[in-house]
Amino acid sequence: MRIVTPRLVIREFQEKDIANLVANINNLNVSRYLSLVPYPYHKKDAKFWVHHNQGEARKRPRKNYDLGIELKSTHELIGGIGLCKIDRFVGKATMGYWLGEDYWRQGIMSEAARAMIDFAFNKLGLTRIDIEAFTKNIPSNGLIKSLRFKYEGTSQRCHRAKSTGQWHDANFYGLLRKDYKK
Ligand SMILES: CC(C)(COP(=O)(O)OP(=O)(O)OC[C@H]1O[C@@H](n2cnc3c(N)ncnc32)[C@H](O)[C@@H]1OP(=O)(O)O)[C@@H](O)C(=O)NCCC(=O)NCCS
Repeated sequence: MRIVTPRLVIREFQEKDIANLVANINNLNVSRYLSLVPYPYHKKDAKFWVHHNQGEARKRPRKNYDLGIELKSTHELIGGIGLCKIDRFVGKATMGYWLGEDYWRQGIMSEAARAMIDFAFNKLGLTRIDIEAFTKNIPSNGLIKSLRFKYEGTSQRCHRAKSTGQWHDANFYGLLRKDYKK
């Protein structure tokens, strides 16, 4: 699985990504508002993630596309984006993403997310994408709104970040294919 955009290659994780995974995610500014990412983040955690996703890539039908984001200019892994919990009967999936701090605010996740949304609607034929962000996560809530997801409500104390042990409220959003195409 490979999606190419002007600046990025979105592709399966590989063994060679392990060092860059650790370098980019072993940072509380990245993992503070993620549910499942430990801090500190060790090489063994990165190895587990790469091997886990190599297993997911072999499953048919595939339910989870957790992919790496490679910067074309350096060929380095700088982040990740996922389309997960794919429910083909309902026609929906859940999107999530993270980016190394050095690459923030350059429109990179907008570029990656638009490509994944296009893949979800036009290749997988889904009709809805779910996304959620901790209420305190200003960058992600901003990005989600800029992608034209609709806010659908807030759940209280529904997540606990593995990195900090803190409980969080989360905003829930949805994007329908018919609204995205407008
Ligand atoms: C959330 C995250 C992926 C954003 O990636 P990014 O590449 O920096 O985002 P973009 O540059 O594409 O920004 C797109 C829009 O999002 C909003 N946004 C991004 N960062 C923001 C910030 N720090 N403050 C306010 N709005 C922000 C803005 O609307 C921005 O558009 P603009 O730059 O034209 O104003 C990045 O901050 C990150 O990886 N954070 C840590 C991991 C994480 O929280 N993941 C999401 C879990 S739900």
